[in-house]
Amino acid sequence: MSSHRSLAIAEVSVRSLRNLARVDVAPSPRLNVVSGDNGQGKTSLLEALYLACTTRSFRATRLRELVGHGAEAGSVRLRVDEGGEAREQTVGLDARGVRRVMLDGKRPATHAAYAVRTPVVVFHPGDLALSAGPAAGRRTLLDRVGLFVDPSSLDHASRWTEASRSRQRALEDRGTSAPDLDAFEHLMGLHGAALTRVRAEAARRLAAEAGPAFAAITRGAREVALAYEPGGSDDAAELTERLAATRERDRHRGSASVGPGRDDLAVALDARAARSEASQGEHRALTLALKLAELACIRHARGVEPVLLLDDVSSELDPGRTEALFGLLGAETGQIFLTTTRPDLIVAPGGGADRRLDLRLAAGAVVGASGG
Ligand SMILES: Nc1ncnc2c1ncn2[C@@H]1O[C@H](COP(=O)(O)OP(=O)(O)OP(=O)(O)O)[C@@H](O)[C@H]1O
Ligand SMILES: [Mg+2]
Repeated sequence: MSSHRSLAIAEVSVRSLRNLARVDVAPSPRLNVVSGDNGQGKTSLLEALYLACTTRSFRATRLRELVGHGAEAGSVRLRVDEGGEAREQTVGLDARGVRRVMLDGKRPATHAAYAVRTPVVVFHPGDLALSAGPAAGRRTLLDRVGLFVDPSSLDHASRWTEASRSRQRALEDRGTSAPDLDAFEHLMGLHGAALTRVRAEAARRLAAEAGPAFAAITRGAREVALAYEPGGSDDAAELTERLAATRERDRHRGSASVGPGRDDLAVALDARAARSEASQGEHRALTLALKLAELACIRHARGVEPVLLLDDVSSELDPGRTEALFGLLGAETGQIFLTTTRPDLIVAPGGGADRRLDLRLAAGAVVGASGG
């Protein structure tokens, strides 16, 4: 059994998010199996849970996409039990996708303060590109762990983005000697270097966890290594200087050519770059190992078992790997929400069949619930 404090979502109320007009559920603290045919709202329910925990979506870049068609606003409210204490978390979205975040009826000081309250790890089909695809997905992984290493990293990331947009506008509108460039580059140096330091620590923690996870999944002897490849510097003055030296290039490029926007997390299999070398099956196992590493890092940093959202895993992993995943999760995990079109194929991990809730969705509404 896990020695951590218990954490579970005890109530969920969704209003007008995606095709979920009105969903009220009291989940099981252990395993929740969300089933339904294609397009009925399974992923949308996980997305609503993720939104409530993180204030973000794992599949949309613009939050206004989540607001139900024809609705003026959407919302998700949770009651969360942690170590015997209850709290209420709400994220509302207006039609433009602007967030209104409430913790126990009050606005939290920052989104970061809110987003570390109920840690969540999601595994969804888009993640299959994690080891093979573009660096952006791996930067998100670093930042998910970084948030729990140091919540202020979220603020550094948004200030970096803000300052680099202003710098880019100045460069393109007024050229490389615009007087306000110094100030923007100073800010970018400050926040970029701070973000780089947190990502470096996140990478170290992920690296320590990913190897053992991969070995457990593949039961093989191939060695996984993760290495942070910073696109900038962890030293503010150095980063500022390098930015000042790349103005001309960046004016044409349309974005900063140095800094955390160019970061990557290199994944190697037996000392060779996985991106170009690994087979499809190896990429799936690597991705799974990266997600399990994320889970372990957040668990250690936060001292609770994160809520786990598994979207369609059994259609993405072969039966052996799905079994291995559940074996690894076993008694280690806390609350799980899992979507599937085939609930009959899901065997409860850790022998938790007595604490399994089956929810069936059709056209965005719960049409059946059993167990729990
Ligand atoms: N803003 C929105 N308002 C209303 N409906 C939406 C909105 N965005 C997406 N939808 C619809 O919501 C439905 C449910 O989507 P969802 O991704 O949750 O399905 P799913 O059950 O996970 O399906 P699959 O098994 O194919 O993954 C889809 O038909 C989609 O077109
Ligand atoms: Mg889906």
